[in-house]
Amino acid sequence: MKDVQGKVAFITGAASGMGLGMARAFSAAGMKVMLGDIQKEPLDTAVAELKGQGRDVAGVVVDVTDRDSVFAAAQATVDTFGKVHVCINNAGVGASGSAEDTSEKNWRWTIDVNMWGVVWGLQAFMPLIKEHGEGGHVVNTASMAGMFSWKELSAYNASKYAVVAMSETAMAEHTDDNIGVSVLCPGVVNTNLGTSARNRGDEYGGSTDKKSEQMVAMLKKGLNPDVVGEQVLEAIIDDQPYIFTDPSLRSWVENRFARILAGYDWADQCQALKKADQQTAIDL
Ligand SMILES: NC(=O)c1ccc[n+]([C@@H]2O[C@H](COP(=O)([O-])OP(=O)(O)OC[C@H]3O[C@@H](n4cnc5c(N)ncnc54)[C@H](O)[C@@H]3O)[C@@H](O)[C@H]2O)c1
Repeated sequence: MKDVQGKVAFITGAASGMGLGMARAFSAAGMKVMLGDIQKEPLDTAVAELKGQGRDVAGVVVDVTDRDSVFAAAQATVDTFGKVHVCINNAGVGASGSAEDTSEKNWRWTIDVNMWGVVWGLQAFMPLIKEHGEGGHVVNTASMAGMFSWKELSAYNASKYAVVAMSETAMAEHTDDNIGVSVLCPGVVNTNLGTSARNRGDEYGGSTDKKSEQMVAMLKKGLNPDVVGEQVLEAIIDDQPYIFTDPSLRSWVENRFARILAGYDWADQCQALKKADQQTAIDL
């Protein structure tokens, strides 16, 4: 999307961290922005900050785990600004633990927000972007935890691999309709993610995350989220599919792929396959 001036963007998780960074960058570039978040007070503060700077913005309370809430936010965006060109499925939460010691409620909370939030965002917004034919862009916020698996972050890793998978699928499906798709894979960014239990719904019970203090301390050393906001704007303009905020983590991805390719080296000399001597082909 070369020309963003006057275009309309919707962002989830826009009251804090990277979502707010994007709202600041997009509105500074002349975009109209609908900020969506589950937390009304910080959302109102964010909208007031940007309106105070003369930006064309509005806010809507949305719970991305709830299909009806996301569709209502899409309608509110169209009612306010006429149409929507850019959708940023960014809201996310983090809970630590290995697969076996993460409680069912922590699993469900993480998957409901991080994975289903993106599903509902795509279902509600993609048809609206297609409808006006002016083109657009979708960015889904995954993580470097969607590129390689960190220890004791099983549910979070699983949710973010799902976001990478949905994004790559959408990239393959939108090659010739002027709708770009990107997946944002941040490294460590200085946001409020370490206290994400603050917006955890009652149905998921209280937080049981023992590592949130450690997470808060680590995130404090991270990148300024406003820089990520500007980077995402640049990626939309450049139609860049993968957005990495920390180039020093490149080797982690290279090491993961080297381990995967080693699996093919082993398969080449595997006795069971040699004995079967059967050719197979996937025809898609
Ligand atoms: N901070 C990092 O280092 C980092 C690294 C990789 C990926 N991420 C991802 O970046 C995204 C943004 O997080 P952040 O780091 O800016 O954290 P943040 O906590 O500062 O912002 C997240 C926002 O999402 C909102 N939110 C949470 N649940 C919601 C729901 N059900 N519906 C609507 N809004 C909801 C929160 O209220 C909050 O305003 C998340 O998807 C996160 O997983 C963060």
